[in-house]
Amino acid sequence: MCGIVGYAGTSSAVADHGALDVLIEGLRRLEYRGYDSAGVAVVADGAIHARKKAGKLVNLENEIAQEPLPESMTGIGHTRWATHGGPSDGNAHPHLADGGKLAMIHNGIIENFAGIKAELLADGVEFLSETDTEVAAALLGKVYAEADGDLTRAMQLAVQRLEGAFTLLAVHQDHPGVVVAARRNSPLVLGLGDGENFLGSDVSGFIDFTRRAVELGQDQIVTITPDSHSITDFDGNPAEGKEFTVDWDAASAEKGGFPSFMEKEIFDQPAAVADTLLGRADAEGRLTLDELRIEPEKLAKITKIVVLACGTSAYAGSVAKYAIESWCRIPVEVELSHEFRYREPIVDKNTLIVSISQSGETMDTLMAVRYAKEQGAKTLSICNTNGSTIPRESDAVLYTHAGPEIAVASTKAFLAQITATYLLGLYLAQLRGNLFSGQIKDILADLAKIPAKIQDILDRSGEIKDLARSMAESKSVLFLGRHVGYPVAMEGALKLKEIAYIHAEGFAAGELKHGPIALIEEGQPVFVVVPSPRGRDSLHSKVVSNIQEVRARGAKTLVIAENGDSAVKDYSEWVFYVPETPTLLMPLLATVPLQIFACELATAKGYDVDQPRNLAKSVTVE
Ligand code: F6R
Repeated sequence: MCGIVGYAGTSSAVADHGALDVLIEGLRRLEYRGYDSAGVAVVADGAIHARKKAGKLVNLENEIAQEPLPESMTGIGHTRWATHGGPSDGNAHPHLADGGKLAMIHNGIIENFAGIKAELLADGVEFLSETDTEVAAALLGKVYAEADGDLTRAMQLAVQRLEGAFTLLAVHQDHPGVVVAARRNSPLVLGLGDGENFLGSDVSGFIDFTRRAVELGQDQIVTITPDSHSITDFDGNPAEGKEFTVDWDAASAEKGGFPSFMEKEIFDQPAAVADTLLGRADAEGRLTLDELRIEPEKLAKITKIVVLACGTSAYAGSVAKYAIESWCRIPVEVELSHEFRYREPIVDKNTLIVSISQSGETMDTLMAVRYAKEQGAKTLSICNTNGSTIPRESDAVLYTHAGPEIAVASTKAFLAQITATYLLGLYLAQLRGNLFSGQIKDILADLAKIPAKIQDILDRSGEIKDLARSMAESKSVLFLGRHVGYPVAMEGALKLKEIAYIHAEGFAAGELKHGPIALIEEGQPVFVVVPSPRGRDSLHSKVVSNIQEVRARGAKTLVIAENGDSAVKDYSEWVFYVPETPTLLMPLLATVPLQIFACELATAKGYDVDQPRNLAKSVTVE
């Protein structure tokens, strides 16, 4: 997830700002989408002038202060959240092509960039970065000649060859006053001004300059000049956008109109899962985790996996244990990072350490990974922050593509982490021959359906919010789950503790009778995550019995069950149905109502859900 802004204006219409002012202001507002590097390119005096710098936007501003850009009324700007290639000056956007005549910025992942890059290398093109974006820029440069110097036509030819998700913006030295953009499965909005037009990843990219916006459809190309815009499909047929007026203030625009980043990030989850899946399998359904960097022969010899993580990330690890053991028949231990190295753990060269960390900077996890490396184990990092310390120090990395998570309480990173562990499990099963290729393909097909199913839950969030508001005065809430529903219950409880400051505990439902059931008294709210009735039958009926047991003792039973599960109805005060999915994938759905519940309840209590008391987003001390 990166932030993108484009501008075409005329000095006569808007004397008080030039392209650079618009780009920097837009990037400032879009910095929540990515902040590991930033860059701009402007067209002036028949040439492209670009500046880019790793780190936050302020680094770019300092760079421009030292080496000023010429006055210009046309330009593009980018703030990056790295996917292909770590965060560095070289990998920062814009990327130049065709001898510096054109500049391009990009949000998304181009799945087939490797093949195109090989072809361009054979043509003699030289690449300066590790990014897929530079490949798209070089492709645009190549087809520009075929399009007889028509930049919009060249963009059509280029995007016809690209697969994946992308928003691309390009400027060319021969076309002052023109910005061409294309979008597929990645956001882009057009802003309409007077004698100037804008492009942004979302309206916050131009909200300081205009409130007239146009929503663009999938697979569309838009060309802006100071006083015109034209929209086509990828074949060049005219297309229409939908105009609307932005009525948010600038602060809520950054949150996409949501009251908090946390709520926005909960609603970002269909994209977080889809983007994490993107580009990880070929057309035949074979997983191609190119970034893994541990030789397949070594991975095939692994005898044990130890997952190391803290907090929410550790619950993602607990979900992974069920999936990886089931698919790969390798024992998986899940351990809190801070406990690991103080107990002389048994690891060796055939142990694969899988660390899971959103930030990649959690000190406890970093120390545990270092310790495991010293013992000779292989280390693989599942991480959301490209170039952070843990992936840098690990033998291999599998990035989640949730985009930056701003709210302290983790939501979309959790779902993306679970998705990544599934990919890892399936990859190991493929390498070791534990699953047939058809089985892997079927599971990938089920995973591909998850984003739409999450969206279905989000579309019904009103039911959950009503419940949350009615429970704002609760003093304690318990969560029960079994099998993969157990870590979901733990995560539901953690969310409530950390943002609503309510006592909450998650239990394995089977453990109830060994103690926790003594806590149940009249009116005690208990969430129960119920496994699919289509799965192992004993599991479902045992959890339904658990619901009956707590209800018989006065509990208020709040149930998350699968569509069509009529068995739970009679024992529940409230039921929320999630779409059907294979049991092992269920956490990607069942977690979402619990996140919405915690977020709404804390909001109803008037708390700042984005910055809960006593907590930091990244815990960089032991
Ligand atoms: C909970 C939460 C924390 C983190 C934990 C690990 O909502 O955000 O429990 O999950 O501090 O952080 P990372 O994943 O950055 O290592």
